[in-house]
Amino acid sequence: MNESRFTLDDRLPADYFTSTLRADVRHGLAEAPRSLPPKWFYDKHGSDLFEQITRLPEYYPTRAEQEILTRRAPEIATLIRPATLIELGSGSSRKTRLLLDALTAGGTLRRYAPLDVSATALEEAGQAICRDYPGLEVAATVADFESGPPLSDEPGPRLLAFLGSTVGNLDAEQRQVFYRTLSLALSSDDVLLLGADLVKDPAVLIRAYDDAAGVTAEFNRNVLHVLNRELGADFDPDAFEHVAVWNTEHERMEMRLRSRTAQTVKVRDLDLSVDFGPGEDLRTEISCKFRRESLTAELKAGGFTVRQWWTDSADRFALLLAVPT
Ligand code: SAH
Ligand code: AVI
Repeated sequence: MNESRFTLDDRLPADYFTSTLRADVRHGLAEAPRSLPPKWFYDKHGSDLFEQITRLPEYYPTRAEQEILTRRAPEIATLIRPATLIELGSGSSRKTRLLLDALTAGGTLRRYAPLDVSATALEEAGQAICRDYPGLEVAATVADFESGPPLSDEPGPRLLAFLGSTVGNLDAEQRQVFYRTLSLALSSDDVLLLGADLVKDPAVLIRAYDDAAGVTAEFNRNVLHVLNRELGADFDPDAFEHVAVWNTEHERMEMRLRSRTAQTVKVRDLDLSVDFGPGEDLRTEISCKFRRESLTAELKAGGFTVRQWWTDSADRFALLLAVPT
């Protein structure tokens, strides 16, 4: 029964895990300082580890955003009355249920369209949502949101959610391209719902990205397992220390893997040999933190006007509604 209401459309190019990953790794390991894009964390194990992170006492963003969604979802439903909820980087869709509850109660929602690079996350979340929301069509897409989401045949008005502050994993330049592509693809009655983590005491941030149980460290090292498996690399993940750094200049957290010793890593499929000095860092993620004024300004530059701005009771996290200008 579920199957008829659930579809999973794989729009990733056939060579995504070969040519895109290869290009990212070749480029990222060659440049100084060395870096990798964060999207490669999310194989099955990485997606499971991220879910564990969201439950850690130190990782406040999920709970803060959940608090705002719990309070504001009914208002969002009344304001927008969407026929489709599209969600980028949906992962487990756990928080999305707060929106789905309000939107289905509002009587307008027909379709939920989650999009993620992780097919396993989409499959699990999509089937469960189909089961729990009878009558809702669930049209999942495996795709890279940086390539521009496929929006064409979704009934409107469309609410496009991008939660969890995943937007902060893009740098300022990538965010401009992202906003611009999106604002051009949306119609005038579509609305963007964006979750953004706010600048705060660096000590709180560092704890959130370097938890006592070591789950974030395992999540960070998981990218090395992905490279070993997908590209025949010979990283020894234990030879790298997990490091979480607050970058004051760019107001962002950075996760790095710091080589414990001088070592050479081979990436067989790229015919590449990389020398790491002792203490040399490989940056694996940026997680930008935002301020109201500058986020509003960058959205404006990308073609969006902010209409609503809500925060949690401790002002740690913001949820905003923006419309194409
Ligand atoms: N929205 C959820 C999950 C956030 S984790 C929450 O707020 O808790 C980030 C999610 O984005 C993961 O599920 C990951 O697989 C996905 N993701 C990361 N980079 C992506 C990209 N470039 N394109 C599509 N999905 C991506
Ligand atoms: C998905 N993304 C918004 C998370 C973040 O906080 O930047 C990923 C994460 N990295 C470490 N912990 C969680």
